[in-house]
Parts: sequence; structure tokens; C-alpha cells
Amino acid sequence: MNPIEVGERLGRWSSGRGPLHVLLSARLRQLIDEGELPPGEPLPPDRALASALAVGRSTVVAAYELLRQDERIVRRQGSGTQVAGATRARRQTTGAPVFLHLLEPQDGVILLACAAPDRPPPELADAYARILPALAAISGDIGYHPTGHPVLRRAIADRYTQRGIHTDPDHILVTNGAQQALSLLARAFLTPGDRVLVEAPTYHGALEAFREQAAVLQALPIGLSGLKAAARQHRSALAYVISTFHNPTGSVLSPLTRRTLVEICVAAGIPLIDDEVLSDLGFPGEQVPPPLAAFGNSVMSVGSLSKTVWAGLRIGWVRAPQFAIARLARLLAVHDLGGNIPAQLAAADLLPRLQPLAKRWAVEREARHDHLRAELARHLPGWDVPPVRGGQTLWVRVPRGDGTSFAQAALRHQVAVLPGNGLDASGHSAEYLRLHFLASPRTTRGSMAAERPPRRQPSTSSTRSLAKTSEPRSARVAEAREHSPETAVLRPGQLGEGEPEVAVRVGPELQCPEAGAG
Ligand SMILES: Cc1ncc(COP(=O)(O)O)c(C=O)c1O
Repeated sequence: MNPIEVGERLGRWSSGRGPLHVLLSARLRQLIDEGELPPGEPLPPDRALASALAVGRSTVVAAYELLRQDERIVRRQGSGTQVAGATRARRQTTGAPVFLHLLEPQDGVILLACAAPDRPPPELADAYARILPALAAISGDIGYHPTGHPVLRRAIADRYTQRGIHTDPDHILVTNGAQQALSLLARAFLTPGDRVLVEAPTYHGALEAFREQAAVLQALPIGLSGLKAAARQHRSALAYVISTFHNPTGSVLSPLTRRTLVEICVAAGIPLIDDEVLSDLGFPGEQVPPPLAAFGNSVMSVGSLSKTVWAGLRIGWVRAPQFAIARLARLLAVHDLGGNIPAQLAAADLLPRLQPLAKRWAVEREARHDHLRAELARHLPGWDVPPVRGGQTLWVRVPRGDGTSFAQAALRHQVAVLPGNGLDASGHSAEYLRLHFLASPRTTRGSMAAERPPRRQPSTSSTRSLAKTSEPRSARVAEAREHSPETAVLRPGQLGEGEPEVAVRVGPELQCPEAGAG
């Protein structure tokens, strides 16, 4: 396994207390014991793993030594390091587990990697209160609805019809969030080795769903530009685009680009997925073009209430031609026989009343976006932070170093951010990070006033000892947290030598109480 893959599997390995080599060996031991690193699996050389994790080589050497003493790994001169035990064929849980960073339980780490509202709005509780009498009155319904409850399918269909795309409930499949929709689509349309056209960068959860089916990903620029040539060159089984408030860049495709995309896909016979999960997140006054389905009924649209209402509701959907819905429903029924009906009834109640909630959030999101950009400009003027007109993330270019080492360094200060290359199937975007702007300006501003940046200490050596790495780290985090109990701030000078320059400021709103995919 290459060092980057091991790094991805390690997830938030360095966020606990104690020396780094102990944390690293403990996490590797856990991965070995859980079978994520199976017997016989070769592990990266010391230096390569150290570089991927932005730590000194001695940290990796000491961690490997602990594992060797534990008989979890074997190290032989000339044949490298591998997990102890005989090799046996084993199906991996996933080949690209970026989600490990996001779905692990809370461990005090501030999750800047996860972008979604951090609590359910009061409107959701109101919707549940309104549906209770209907729920109590249900009879003659055993509760299994693999395609979704008819009331919610109707409500979703009506919403599309109001947006100008005539839709019947038969064209709708309700899912447990958009992620389930994407993995069902991947299972229904892909066989191992099939080619999928994706944007670079894009939503990492979609990449994982396609990789799970052993698809070959072909990365094209945002908006799938170059699609025509790519379609001519190879047969593609699927194309995936985020047309509105793209994750992570926030871009919106023009009506002309939408029309062209659909026409090319129809002509080439490529099923096209339009991920609309962020399309209702425009800032006030922002007009968005029609969904791709308005330009061709064969488009398969994926939607969700995770970003407009709350991800914990787990309501998503696919709008697609009837034959595709029937195929997806068969697959879904194999896995869970259908979703949670009370949640679906609440969602159906809420859907026609979403406007005031959406408006309120749009104002708030724009203010938070402006505030974060202003703070980044003030404290990190070298960072390139283009503004967006909706969505929830900024695609930030760091002037020095790369996003992966930045993310590893930030993690050692209890802050999880998403490095750009995990979102880019072409392997580029290494100099980018994705930050979300959902923190409240009040918390950010309040804590800002209490801070004075410490000075950067010049470094004397490029290799850090274990003591140097772990000791000052906890002291620096403690110092950062002391200024404001609700805020962790990393600045130049609070970081260890060799760590990239970083200033991350967060408040409690940013911590997703539950796992979030973002
Ligand atoms: C573009 C995009 N699609 C799909 C999803 C998955 O959303 P859900 O929570 O509905 O599964 C996300 C989550 O962040 C997303 O950003």
C-alpha cells in the first residue's frame, strides 16, 4: 500500500494525547487488528511514510519498532516492512477511505472537513409535531416502501414540476441521503473497469462510490469541459457533474454549458448524473439556471435535504427515467427494504414550506462567507481565496507547501481540514484545501479580538526528535485554546518546524456533533 493510501486509512491518528510515535503505532495496530491492513500487506518505507504524514522519520521508525515488538509487523533487511501473518485474499472495505476522517466519532477534533448545518432547524421539530396525528392513524401499511413513501415521492415530484420539469412520483426514488443515491447509481450502472467521467476537483463521496465499483475515473475540468473529445476517445459508462454551487469550488454552470453537456451525453449514450445537493444554497438574490434535467429527461438528478435542513434527517432522492428508478429500487430493496417512514413524512410536510428557512440560512451563509474571507485576507494575505455566490465551501490555494502536509500539521493541532488532492481524481490540486464557511462571525470576531500572534521561532534542524514533536505541540495547542475556550487558533510560530504556515480559526459551530460527509 502506498504512503498516501496508508495516510488516508490512518485518518485522525495524530489528534490524541501522547507522543506521536505512540499515537501512530496505536492507530496502525488498530487498522491491523480490524483487518484494514491485512496480513502480508507491505507497509511503506520509513522515509516515505514520514513524508506523507509530515513527521520526522524517527517517529515512523519508533512506531514500527513498537509494532514489531508486538509482533504485528515484520521487518526484514532488503524486503521491507509488512503486516505479520500469511497473505490471504480479502475484500477491502473501501479502496479510498477519505470518509474515515469524517465519520470517526468525536475526539475533540474540530471538523473543518465536514460541511453541513450543525443542528436541525426548529422547522424540523414543527414538521414532526404536525405529522404525529397522521402517523398515529396509520393502518394497513406494514411500513416497507423501497421506493419511498408515496407522500414524499409526490412532494419531491411536485417540487420538480414547479421548477418547470414535469415529474411524476414514478420518476422519484427516495434514499437515505444523496450518498446512498450515488452509491446505488454506481452499483446500477457500473461494472469493474468501466470508465466514469468526473470533474476535477469534485465531491470525494462520489469518487469513493465509483471506486467502490472498481471504476476507472477520468478527470475533466470543472463542467466536464472536454467531454466531447473524451466521449469520442473511449466508451464511458457514466458522467457525474455538480452543476450548481459545485463542491468544492462553488461554481455554477451556465445554461449554455448545461444544454451542451446534456446534448453530448445523449448523443454519446452516456448516462449523466446531475448532483443537485447544493443547488438550493444560493446567497440572497442569486438566481440559478434550471437543472440539467430541464435540457433532457434522461438526466439522473440527485438531491437531498442534508444541506438545506439537516444531514441527520437522511432524506435524499434520485429523479430519473422510470426504468432507472425500477433498477435502483431493486438494488435498494436488497440492502435495506426502504427508509425511515416518520422521517419521510416529516420531509414531505417540510418540502413545500422550505422557502423561509432557505432565505434565513442564505443571509447567514453569505455573512459567514464574507467574514471568513475577510479574516483569511487579514491573517493569511498570501492565500488565494476566490469568493463564491452560494454553497458552503471555499477552494483555497496555499502559497507554499501542499494541502496534505498542511492537513497533517493542522490535525496535530486538533483541526481536521480536507486536502485538495483527495478531491481530485487526476491526482492534482495538491496545493489546495477545502474550507467551509459555516462558522458564526460572532464567535470568530470575538475570539479574534482576544488574540495576538506569537512570533515564529526559527528552526535549527530539519529532523524533529520525538520529544520536540510531541511536547511543544501539546503546549502550543494548550496555549491556543487558553485565549478563548471556544476557539483553536493555529498561527505561524505555533507550528513545529517544517510544518506549513497555517492560521485556522474555528468556533463550536463548526464542530459537527454527528458524523457528516461534507
Ligand atoms: C455534492 C454532494 N453530494 C452528495 C452529498 C451527500 O449528501 P447526503 O448527506 O445527503 O448523503 C454531499 C455531502 O456533502 C455533497 O456535498
